[in-house]
Amino acid sequence: MQQLFKPNKAFAKDARIKNMCEYEELAEWAKEDYEGFWEHFAKEKLDWIKPFENVLDESNAPFVKWFDGGKLNVATQCIDRHLDSRKNKAAIIFEGDRGDKQIITYLELYYNVNRFANLLKNEFNVKKGDRVVIYMPMIPEAAYAMLACARIGAIHSVVFGGFSAEALRDRIEDADAKVVITADGAYRKGKPYMLKPVVDKALEENTPIEKVLVVQRNFEDIEWVSGRDYSYNELITSQAPVCEAEAMESEDPLFLLYTSGSTGKPKGVQHSQAGYILWAQMTMEWVFDVKENDTYWCTADIGWITGHTYIVYGPLAMGATTVMFEGVPTYPDAGRAWKMVEEYKINQFYTAPTAIRVLHKMGEDEPKKYDLNSLKVLGTVGEPIDPPAWRWYYEVVGNSQCSIVDTYWQTETGGHIISPIASATPIKPACATLPLPGIMAEILDPETGEKVEVGQKGYMCVTRPWPSQIRNVWGDEQRYKKSYYGDVKKDGKAVYFTGDGAVYDENGYITITGRTDDVINVSGHRLGTAEIEAAIKKHSNVAEVAVVGKPHDIKGEAIFAYVVLKSDNGVADEVEELKAINNTIKQEIGNIALCDDIIFAPGLPKTRSGKIMRRILRSLAKGEAITQDISTLEDPSIVAKLEALIQS
Ligand code: PRX
Repeated sequence: MQQLFKPNKAFAKDARIKNMCEYEELAEWAKEDYEGFWEHFAKEKLDWIKPFENVLDESNAPFVKWFDGGKLNVATQCIDRHLDSRKNKAAIIFEGDRGDKQIITYLELYYNVNRFANLLKNEFNVKKGDRVVIYMPMIPEAAYAMLACARIGAIHSVVFGGFSAEALRDRIEDADAKVVITADGAYRKGKPYMLKPVVDKALEENTPIEKVLVVQRNFEDIEWVSGRDYSYNELITSQAPVCEAEAMESEDPLFLLYTSGSTGKPKGVQHSQAGYILWAQMTMEWVFDVKENDTYWCTADIGWITGHTYIVYGPLAMGATTVMFEGVPTYPDAGRAWKMVEEYKINQFYTAPTAIRVLHKMGEDEPKKYDLNSLKVLGTVGEPIDPPAWRWYYEVVGNSQCSIVDTYWQTETGGHIISPIASATPIKPACATLPLPGIMAEILDPETGEKVEVGQKGYMCVTRPWPSQIRNVWGDEQRYKKSYYGDVKKDGKAVYFTGDGAVYDENGYITITGRTDDVINVSGHRLGTAEIEAAIKKHSNVAEVAVVGKPHDIKGEAIFAYVVLKSDNGVADEVEELKAINNTIKQEIGNIALCDDIIFAPGLPKTRSGKIMRRILRSLAKGEAITQDISTLEDPSIVAKLEALIQS
């Protein structure tokens, strides 16, 4: 049996959940009285404008309603209710790429968000239910923009700043958004970069966008389209400092966040108001045990769900101090992150395995140069962490004193679903451990719907609806049902399937084994192979393409593409062709989807019915010998040809 690392005793002593008995009590309570459990916390944690009448309505499952009849406002949960006790407390500590710093108190946040809300409402006529796209760097105004939308009931859709104009336009169109909030640019690795030109390009074609609000961050020269583009810096000063918060129904959409699935078109994951904010707050409190005077830092980008739930909504809902960082943890050197931990006396540090691997590689002993004694909890998210990286994080960064919370969740789950509780759960390397209390997560056999035995791989499922879960795929109910409730049935009832495989160990702990579908995870960024294939196909010389993931030391997975060029054109110049394909990907999706390997293949391994055998392509990309039966392929000789090409 593998060694388990127990939580630090001094830390656990004053925690909200002090030990596994307390964990069990909560988990049992939820099992015994599911609705009572959630009713209790919804009443205890949230401030209701109008109390809810019903806890859970499953009558139209998988379209569920939580806390129906209730009204609240998420921005007031995150700001107004803290003003009595925390108005001068730091809500956001911002550090820019070049080391510039800003501390925003809860009172300042209140006025900044209110003014922003008034700007959207009065200057741009944004109303409850309207969609607003936020395409922003990691600056405080990005958080203000999200909260301003929440305050007036507009639905925000944050698009990661690394996405291309095409990707941005697709998301604008799918959401039918009327406003884009962006910045002229920002700073990265000491240099200014631009965002606004990407927005301009996205809006070259006809889109539903009426207005663009531009936060001037780096004051580089940009184009201004008269009547469409407005400077935030100019408009904000004249806005009234208070804007009444809209009373939102529990189930009104709070935001959309597009994520990759198994088709070429990203899905607009739709989240609710009450259920989402409740679980964002509860998981912040339980998993990280953030205390009143703690300083918490999550290094994610607000363009992803981690940035939504664990930089903005979760920490602010509980009244914590959250650090927002514009830069990268390796600039100007490998000590940047550790220097910030020392300087701000960070208590909880939450990052991605890719960042841990990079920092490890760049400076094995770098953390020892800094005083990291303030750290109590270390977190990881977004992809599997390998045991060596985990051990370095535990021993060197955490000095064997901090729990590591390997938090497993997804854009669709809104918040953590399987994770250690830092103060209670004994941990082991690279293991998400146990479902959080209230989350009925089980690894099921997809054939029988039964819980799998220890050591047997199965599908990671959640068998009951939970408050922070996805409510719909924006505008596509069928896709919602098919994507999440189409694969696994337990006792004859469709259950939520995450798309991940998982396995139990002898402690009942859960280890996530990775996606079972065609989604790949590059540096914690989720990308659909179909999406990348669709982008590559836009290059005029491409006849066919298949994309697979290949293990990568730092990024976890890298993108490997097999491209069949149009026969009459042939491969005139491979280097040029490679460049052109990567340029197409850049234009269609962005740099995050660039391929590490592109092989110009004479054909793809297909069955006689024309199905591409991706398993073979994955094995070949890994350099594995092909042992499976290939006689069913239309042209079995293709396998040896591809093998030779890869080896050459
Ligand atoms: O495959 C799982 C992986 O990331 C996927 C979700 O990606 P996304 O929606 O972009 O959200 C990332 C941030 C929550 C999952 O389906 N994943 C996430 N966390 C872990 C993980 N894989 C292993 N261990 C984790 N802790």
